[in-house]
Amino acid sequence: MKRTQVAIVGAGPAGLLLGQLLHKEGIDTLILERRSAEYVANRIRAGVLEPGTVDVLERAGVASRLHAEGLIHDGVEIGFRGRRHRIDLKALTGKAVTVYGQTEVTRDLMNARASSGAPSVYEAEDVALHGLEGPTPRVTYWHQGAAHEVACDFIAGCDGFHGVSRRSIPASSLKIFERVYPFGWLGLLADVAPPWKELIYANSERGFALASMRSPTRVRCYLQCSLEDRVENWSDDQFWDEFRRRIGEEVGALVTGAPSIEKSIAPLRSFVVEPLRFGSLFLAGDAAHIVPPTGAKGLNLAVSDVLYLYEALRGYFRERSVRSLDEYSPRCLRRIWRAERFSWWMTRQLHRFSDDAFGTRMQQVELEYLFESPAAQAGMAENYVGLPFEPGS
Ligand code: FAD
Ligand code: PHB
Repeated sequence: MKRTQVAIVGAGPAGLLLGQLLHKEGIDTLILERRSAEYVANRIRAGVLEPGTVDVLERAGVASRLHAEGLIHDGVEIGFRGRRHRIDLKALTGKAVTVYGQTEVTRDLMNARASSGAPSVYEAEDVALHGLEGPTPRVTYWHQGAAHEVACDFIAGCDGFHGVSRRSIPASSLKIFERVYPFGWLGLLADVAPPWKELIYANSERGFALASMRSPTRVRCYLQCSLEDRVENWSDDQFWDEFRRRIGEEVGALVTGAPSIEKSIAPLRSFVVEPLRFGSLFLAGDAAHIVPPTGAKGLNLAVSDVLYLYEALRGYFRERSVRSLDEYSPRCLRRIWRAERFSWWMTRQLHRFSDDAFGTRMQQVELEYLFESPAAQAGMAENYVGLPFEPGS
């Protein structure tokens, strides 16, 4: 039977980053990923990195392209009732966010993994976890028609919301908190220069819209859509037409007609599992929690979990510190719940909910208060740029 110190399930940003940090510490890892490397490298997802996330990527030695190509944004805009209000992140917090696609973060991490020579198995089928409560945890999987078994000290469940890791924990050992929202986001990627300088989150009577970007020549835009909607129902022209109406003619008209490179629909969900540990299995990233994308927190939270997990495992392998392992879940959860609160709040304030007259007034008064009160803006900015990491023990 093969052996590794940490078996990592999933090669999304969480699994790849953990692999890189542990490799730099001299800890052996094996990454098992269900999809092909090409599929993983091309998946379009997040776009906004907190400064704390950039620091961790730097520490992992994978930030040089990010520093060369990432776009620094000192503010974000909120659109409401035909007007736009700027939240000056830099003035309010001293910090800015970096616009750099998750696709690029993933590529940088995949390249670092390849140069490190540490093993990854893509297209690993039927990954299964065994012996989580005993002294000899194991992972089994199939690859190219052959069965494999790997013994390890710990398993990192970095396999996203639909992965096998969380499902390997008995239901009686988990508490699940969940909120499903009655709408989704339709996203479109197009090669056109963004006519907006900073991201615009718009609450319009027709529903939410987000004007984002990936580079000086590529936009990423989203529309709130119904859960029954299908990508096929939306031609590019229909998308841009609706986008213009929600975001405003002034900028909307300047991207109209740009052909899409990709279109997809994502449902919106808040989800947290407690605790993040079961015996030798540690959950990190989307395997443990989901936030609606409105606060741009999902990837950033995956990175803070991974930093904490890296520190916990390092504490164990350096000093046999069981305490550092015990602290992992409560330490993560404190930050996770704050990001859950912020993402829920942003979602609540910016989307159109069905005919709820009281809720609509609350949204209006909340946004007006935000635009008028420097204290409210400071609260939003502090959360948007990311709350600080807890110091490790
Ligand atoms: P994932 O990226 O889901 O990776 C998990 C990996 O595990 C995948 O590669 C998967 O194939 C693999 N896997 C699954 N099951 C198995 C199995 N059984 N065996 C082996 N491997 C398996 N976040 C932000 O911070 N900012 C944003 O601006 C933002 N925007 C978003 C916009 C959209 C439309 C969406 C959908 C998400 C957005 N997010 C954003 C969230 C962010 O993309 C996720 O939180 C992030 O991908 C989590 O990383 P992860 O590594 O935990 O999980
Ligand atoms: C994105 O560019 O994909 C993006 C940006 C900000 C969000 C969500 C998604 O809040």
